Amino acid sequence: MPGWSPRAIRLGTEAMLVLGIETSCDETAAAVVEDGRQVRSSIVASQDDLHEEFRGVVPEIASRAHAERLLPVIRRALAEACVSLSEVDAVAVGHRPGLIGPLLVGVASAKALAWSLGKPLVGVDHVHAHLYAGLLAEEPRQAEDMPDFPALGLVVSGGHTSMFAMHSLTEITRLGGTIDDAMGEAFDKAATILGLPYPGGPAIDRLARQPEANDRAHAFPISRLAPESLDFSFSGLKTALLYAVRGRPGVGGDFERDHTSLSDRERADLSASFERAAVGAVMLKLERALGRCDRPPRSLLAGGGVTANTRLRRELVALADRTGLDLRLPPLRYCVDNAAMIAGLGSELLKVGRVSDLSLRAVPTTSV
Ligand code: KG4
Ligand code: ZN
Repeated sequence: MPGWSPRAIRLGTEAMLVLGIETSCDETAAAVVEDGRQVRSSIVASQDDLHEEFRGVVPEIASRAHAERLLPVIRRALAEACVSLSEVDAVAVGHRPGLIGPLLVGVASAKALAWSLGKPLVGVDHVHAHLYAGLLAEEPRQAEDMPDFPALGLVVSGGHTSMFAMHSLTEITRLGGTIDDAMGEAFDKAATILGLPYPGGPAIDRLARQPEANDRAHAFPISRLAPESLDFSFSGLKTALLYAVRGRPGVGGDFERDHTSLSDRERADLSASFERAAVGAVMLKLERALGRCDRPPRSLLAGGGVTANTRLRRELVALADRTGLDLRLPPLRYCVDNAAMIAGLGSELLKVGRVSDLSLRAVPTTSV
């Protein structure tokens, strides 16, 4: 982080410094956050290169890479924040949901650190932490303004697609979620169908943004589910894209063609049309949720890797303008997995006394 001086930081302040640790999937991350909002450092070691050839995260490879990288990543986060381990007030760790092996590396390390330092340990829900990412700030003055509650929450990432009613930053109720693929997973699979590199979301976003890309070239289905449903589904859209690219399968299950016959223009049209339907489905459910809340939400907190998507960001801004919601969208670096969001939400949990002890477990499933 630019401009931090260790003297200025510790003299005459009672700043609360939380070290965050994140290892739930394929990013090894550590961060130091001051007073819950201000990011003093955020280090993310991506494993994309290790998983690219498999077009998905291989849990065993991810666990080993976390074990090798976590301590150097923590050391760098402390060094960049100009903070020594003894100055850390608490250790927060993403302990659910995620891949069990990767989670165990982070949770075991966080327990060891917290115990050896004699500092509180805070277990943080990774999905809830994505909702917090839009509140992180790098300048002190940004750290002051907080959203009003109740708020509507949206997390769209590689592993999760959920909507939440937020009564506060720490009282969160799930309204609905995906019944099949997560939105980012659908982007990644769509990219594979189109012959684009992994992870596919950014590649589809890039093609869909090209000026000549026509988002109405294909009328892909926008999933609605039952009229009252606040759940999401992306598998029908994925299949529609598969058939548009490869033709319908014959009796033997063989397709008529593959993605190698696509022109650049066709690939851009397919990407834009896919993106329009995927984003359209999310916007539809947000509007539905807004119409259903007992107390109208004042704010909209969104996060997760797919909130980096250009079209989704544009449509969320338009929705906020239309409805007067105070939209909190993370900057691109905090959309994807990071530890600053873990340290940030960890600080809020610490403030309300929700600390963990050494029995904290790594839990692969989402909390309800
Ligand atoms: O939040 P994240 O790092 O991981 C999970 O917690 O799951 O999200 C990664 C996901 C990947 O599926 C990736 O393709 C998607 O976010 N993604 C995007 C974009 N950037 C990342 N999807 C659509 N458009 C993007 N620009
Ligand atoms: Zn995530």
